[in-house]
Amino acid sequence: MKQHTPQQLQVFLDIATEAALAAGAILQTYWGKLEQIEEKGRPGDLVTAADKAAEVEILKVLERHVPDHGILAEESGEQGNKQSQYLWAIDPLDGTTNYAHQYPIASVSIGLLIDGIPQVGAVYNPFRNELFRAAKGLGATCNRRPITVSSTSELSKSLLVTGFAYDRRETSDNNYAEFCYLTHLTQGVRRAGSASLDLCDVACGRLDGYWERGLSPWDITAGIVLLEEAGGKVTAYDQSPLIVNSGRLLATNGQIHASLSKELLQVPPLSTWASL
Ligand code: IPD
Ligand code: CA
Ligand code: CA
Repeated sequence: MKQHTPQQLQVFLDIATEAALAAGAILQTYWGKLEQIEEKGRPGDLVTAADKAAEVEILKVLERHVPDHGILAEESGEQGNKQSQYLWAIDPLDGTTNYAHQYPIASVSIGLLIDGIPQVGAVYNPFRNELFRAAKGLGATCNRRPITVSSTSELSKSLLVTGFAYDRRETSDNNYAEFCYLTHLTQGVRRAGSASLDLCDVACGRLDGYWERGLSPWDITAGIVLLEEAGGKVTAYDQSPLIVNSGRLLATNGQIHASLSKELLQVPPLSTWASL
């Protein structure tokens, strides 16, 4: 496995940034002007002309700079060089439901896995003009200023965020019980609607922790790099090493990691939470 120099990672970070900014401009162009909003299969899983156009723009940037890399893009799937050690995980619009309702929590998320490990990430929210960037060993920034996680060390003093996957009506493993239980134990649990921004908000200390299931690599690759480089911790719910493809992750400021993991592993059934 080849180690990458900081200079090499910086080149990839600049490519990710170029792609995120270009896609962000497309999202702004379509804002409030969507003519048609389709469902992709499951109820509530939306796709719009903005998702598709933003993805085309990202693919053009990657084709120009790294035509021999692999790509996993939410709307057009796996493509490019499948043997490559590089895999770009792309979400052209993370927070489509928010975007479709003109609720301005949405982003472009561009992550790069090298040998399966998230190493570069750019997440851009064009509606708040916030650009989050990080690469392994190079630190994490928001609008070019260094960011770090919060110092909250008690779960009872923490503010958390989570989300609910589109299969939530089809499975009892839908995170509803976890949401209620953690709401009970903390200062609150937000559901902002963009997984990549959830990770960035923990990375910059606005929130103390995040967990979710049913996620895809394009939702989380960039945000994982942001959080780790900001001093946070990302694992599976049980604190074992994260498997990006498992879709399930626990991401915190590090301080509340063990206690949040412990609670996630002992969530009481939904019917009992109100009497805790
Ligand atoms: C969704 C968002 C949401 C999360 C869902 C994702 P999309 O991505 O990140 O916060 O809860 O699981 O699928 O569909 O808006 O790209
Ligand atoms: Ca997404
Ligand atoms: Ca998306």
